[in-house]
Amino acid sequence: MEDIVLQTRRASGIVIDDDWPGYSLELFSYPAHYTGDLQCVVVPHGVIMDRTERLARDIMDDLGDNDIVVLCVLKGGYQFCADLVDKIKALSCSSDRTIPMRVHFIRLKSYLNDQSTEDLHILGAEDLSFLAGKNVLIVEGIIGTGKTLKALLKHVEAFQPKMIRVAGLLVKRVPRNTANLPDYIGFEIPDRFVVGYALDYNEYFRDLNHICVISDSGKMKYKI
Ligand code: HPA
Ligand code: MG
Repeated sequence: MEDIVLQTRRASGIVIDDDWPGYSLELFSYPAHYTGDLQCVVVPHGVIMDRTERLARDIMDDLGDNDIVVLCVLKGGYQFCADLVDKIKALSCSSDRTIPMRVHFIRLKSYLNDQSTEDLHILGAEDLSFLAGKNVLIVEGIIGTGKTLKALLKHVEAFQPKMIRVAGLLVKRVPRNTANLPDYIGFEIPDRFVVGYALDYNEYFRDLNHICVISDSGKMKYKI
């Protein structure tokens, strides 16, 4: 029974199809400085929050009463991590199960423009020896090729935590080794470059609440 439940949870999250045109930008508010830089809204902020609330409950059901170390992957994961931790805190106040949490931050960088580069930089991860014997929840904003997550898992495993779980807000539908999919997935999205809710294009668009597809002119404007 438990296996079935876990498998359902490990499934793709909310699936957004390739032919889903997204919501028109006219239907939502967003910063005026991004006018013309976006094509459509893929996931509105409110839907992100609702899904995150449910992921918090799934995590609580699976890991409740265990101490966990939340490993927030910067910069793209900061907003999801902050909101997920908030939702878990709220559940810890309102039920008799709780999750004592520590929060730690590491920074990864592997993208230039909209392309994944070969060189993955892990910063702030020099000494993770305090993870030994701990339950670790890695929190990522987006899993694209899966290469970043794979390298990160290898890095974290070397410090011998008791258990590692991964929560990813977005997973792109690309051909990949499914062994490296997160345990908790917010949304499965088409293989397009998205920004907002802390996800960037060359450091722009982190100050946007919704998850949006960047327009061609937006790509040109902020290209380096
Ligand atoms: N947007 C922002 N950052 C990313 C993406 C994306 O679509 N894929 C991998 N990193
Ligand atoms: Mg980035």
